[in-house]
Amino acid sequence: MKKNYLIAVEGIDGAGKSTQIPKIAAYFESKGYTVCLTAEPTKGPFGQRIRAATTRLDPRTERDLFVDDRKEHLVTCILPALDRGEVVITDRYFYSSIAYQGTRRDALKTGSEAERIALQDDIAEQNRLYAPEADILIYLKIDVDTALARMQAGRDALDPFEKKQTLQDVSDAFDRLVKDHPQAVIVDASQAPETVTASLYAALDDILKPQEAHV
Ligand code: TYD
Repeated sequence: MKKNYLIAVEGIDGAGKSTQIPKIAAYFESKGYTVCLTAEPTKGPFGQRIRAATTRLDPRTERDLFVDDRKEHLVTCILPALDRGEVVITDRYFYSSIAYQGTRRDALKTGSEAERIALQDDIAEQNRLYAPEADILIYLKIDVDTALARMQAGRDALDPFEKKQTLQDVSDAFDRLVKDHPQAVIVDASQAPETVTASLYAALDDILKPQEAHV
């Protein structure tokens, strides 16, 4: 039985990652795995610089800071945990860089669809040079209006239309990138939380059971 998995949990803001991640951890623990829970941006020096920014950093600086943060995350946390045979569940990984930094309109000259896809591919390539692919990419897919309604506790200072367009771009980028991943679990995250958890568990059972049968 494979013991160490790298699992990335992704989705737009408001998709419910923080509710589902402890459930995913509980799933693996119930099967006897040791779980390491982690997140990006990290609490390390680069992650702190990202979080400390009061306005949006310029596109290149932002993109590189996430890369620096992730390199450190891999060396200090993710790779050692995988070496110990643990299941690492990371709340965001380089797929977020593709989806968020890859949709910044101010990083584009013409803003054409082709240019945007080229930017996303470039960020993917940059990250794959140093970061291993997640064994399982869990994508909590939610429509932007539902996500915005969930976030309506006034957390965001952004103009609602701007925010909606930004989230839609990010969502489209996630939709596109999960199609290329060898082991993506795509769950409809607009359902009730317990239904989302049940869907996740069923999908994880499907992935783990055939592997366990080969022991
Ligand atoms: P988020 O998971 O929402 O953290 P928190 O729960 O602390 O708010 O992540 C913070 C933001 O960082 C989120 O809006 C997405 C963004 N982000 C990127 O833009 N690129 C990246 O590579 C990562 C990892 C996150």
